[in-house]
Amino acid sequence: LLFLPSEPAAVDGGGTGQTVSVADLRGAGEPAPGGEVRRYTLTARVATVRLPTGREVEAWTFDGRVPGPPVTATEGDVIEVTLRNTDIGDGVTLHWHGYDVPCGEDGAPGVTQDVVRPGGEFVYRFRADQTGTYWYHTHQASHRGVRRGLFGTLVVTPRDRPADDARRLDLTLPVHTYDDTTVLADPDGRTEHTAAVDTPVRLRVVNTDSVPHRLALAGTPFRVAAVDGRDLNRPGEVVRTALRLPAGGRYDLVFVMPDRPVTLVVDDADAVHVRPGGDAGGPVEDPSGWPELDLLRYGVPAAVPFDADGGDVTRHFTMVLDRGVAMVDGSPAFAQTVNGRGHPSVPDQLVAEGDLVRFTVVNRSLETHPWHLHGHPVLVLSRNGTRAAGSPLWMDTFDVRPGEVWRVAFRATNPGVWMNHCHNLAHAHEGMMLRLRYH
Ligand code: C2O
Ligand code: CU
Repeated sequence: LLFLPSEPAAVDGGGTGQTVSVADLRGAGEPAPGGEVRRYTLTARVATVRLPTGREVEAWTFDGRVPGPPVTATEGDVIEVTLRNTDIGDGVTLHWHGYDVPCGEDGAPGVTQDVVRPGGEFVYRFRADQTGTYWYHTHQASHRGVRRGLFGTLVVTPRDRPADDARRLDLTLPVHTYDDTTVLADPDGRTEHTAAVDTPVRLRVVNTDSVPHRLALAGTPFRVAAVDGRDLNRPGEVVRTALRLPAGGRYDLVFVMPDRPVTLVVDDADAVHVRPGGDAGGPVEDPSGWPELDLLRYGVPAAVPFDADGGDVTRHFTMVLDRGVAMVDGSPAFAQTVNGRGHPSVPDQLVAEGDLVRFTVVNRSLETHPWHLHGHPVLVLSRNGTRAAGSPLWMDTFDVRPGEVWRVAFRATNPGVWMNHCHNLAHAHEGMMLRLRYH
């Protein structure tokens, strides 16, 4: 079986075997027992939007909002989203960042579908079997489209929820920079919240920018419950510790509401406040000097479904990231490259279903490259030769800083053609991108 992008449509396999267009790998039909079909229509259009800071910006929006309407579901529901485009000249698609949808729902233009032009429409449909915090964004000219506002959040909650869950304060907080203003607020633009003392609080922080952000939670000890939507194994309580959230990444932070205000600080600027009500005083802590949590040593180790350091690996790819001379629009230019080449001339990575694949990602440049593979979470094995020693860390976007070498692994269980790229979207646009293809 050979999987081919939607363009060209399925071609003759020359007698060597079947070919399947990824456009035919579509999502599930029915919800799980007890589940429902969650229907949304998202219409992409240009609109003037008022930021929580009061400033007005000309944005590219879904339904006139930035971020777009939150997409939510309970585990086992079917999510069905009709995407329409009114007047976004670049065209639009929806990519479900971190969500392992069937390939035909993945929103990679020219690979899994045609771009949705003004007047056009595309319907995405997939089962919400994966719980946690994710996001969606356009994948067409995404270096422009996402920056200007074509994104929103996707949160799927477990069907069986703990008893105290009903009284939980659960906030989804995208971080996004509009020109030079970084905003951390819930999708309705609110930055002030109240929670009674002893209420469990969950903050789902989503980095929709192309650069990392520094986060700190002042006023309370907390746990990092989940990274990129996946729960950590027995995360310990930390206090006065900062977090670095990669571009595209998500952290779920949990704490129990104390009797004084809690502030989530982004890049050392005040951002979101949760207050216990009454006239409790303001936070007294200044997080600017706090050390950064090393997630590779956080939480308790647990069994993983394969031995990626031992003999189980069946494919191994090395990606060297650097700036170099590559062909851009038909002529040589200085650009972001993978193994000395720029997309689309980086060779495809070929895998077979069931392969255990290991990536070594080497950053030889002076910039950070948040690496993102579509359709599969990767297990972090090591950074700079030091093995991961905490909870198994499954990520879909990991920050490879200048000079770093990361090793990660994943099982090839989601057939199709998948983009594999730097999530600094300007870098991806310049060529720091390739395709992983099942054959
Ligand atoms: Cu969030 Cu290929 O992207
Ligand atoms: Cu990059």
